[in-house]
Amino acid sequence: MKIITKIKDLQSDLLLLKSNGKKIGFVPTMGYLHEGHEALLAQARANNDVVVLSIFVNPLQFGEGEDLDTYPRDIVHDEQVAKKHGVDYIFYPTVQEMYPDDMSVTVKVHKNTDVLCGASRPGHFDGVATVLTKLFNIVQPHNAYFGMKDAQQVAVVKGLVKDFNFPIEIIPVDIVREEDGLAKSSRNVYLLSEEREEAPHLYKSLQSAAEKIAEGERNANRLKQEIRGYIEKHTSGIVDYIEIYSYPELGELTELKGQIIIAIAVKFSRARLIDNVTVEIG
Ligand code: PAF
Repeated sequence: MKIITKIKDLQSDLLLLKSNGKKIGFVPTMGYLHEGHEALLAQARANNDVVVLSIFVNPLQFGEGEDLDTYPRDIVHDEQVAKKHGVDYIFYPTVQEMYPDDMSVTVKVHKNTDVLCGASRPGHFDGVATVLTKLFNIVQPHNAYFGMKDAQQVAVVKGLVKDFNFPIEIIPVDIVREEDGLAKSSRNVYLLSEEREEAPHLYKSLQSAAEKIAEGERNANRLKQEIRGYIEKHTSGIVDYIEIYSYPELGELTELKGQIIIAIAVKFSRARLIDNVTVEIG
């Protein structure tokens, strides 16, 4: 496994491998790898000749007052995880390497950003799209892997690849959960112990909504109220949003039909957790 910090070094290695017909799988991350990332790495390893993992805490996608400075980092642990999954390259650039002072172009996302996390994090998806445009150009992978925990990000990335004609297959990977149902996240470490005990109720509220849909419920507002009531009863978290949209279009729905996403964000004292389920309604 090679750890590379310079864009031109990674590009020259990967161009050679690609010219020898190797299939490149790419897993972009901000590090502090957990089992959710491991699921992405395992799929990338299984379906490609060369696996590239990027670790870069991208300042452009953090807003004012967000946790850029305190975002958890542990490169030694990340290297071990990468080795365990047979990663060939870790790309670990500095901020200066990715964003030199004379940079003059960034990417703006116009669709799918004024809902869910985008609504309370203005500019967040512009930052994600900008860094991914750079990373996709640097790595030029055949396949890129993204967790469905951030389903809105998956929708935005699919739009980026389509609109900018990147010849890359975007592969969404199912959410990986703790045994008690809490979605794995680098931010779970911020939870106080009593909040950690309450947090699995987020997924329980989503499961209960999915069961109600299976039993025939089609009224989005009623479901949202039930989810809110459940979360407020079982946790000390403050609901940021509970939304039900068509997926991946993220369009408003009053009557549920087709592929839908039920997505929630809940603020605890030091962590804002997100979770979702997607449901196919026949
Ligand atoms: O999901 C993440 O960790 C980040 O948003 C990504 C895709 C690595 C871009 O910085």
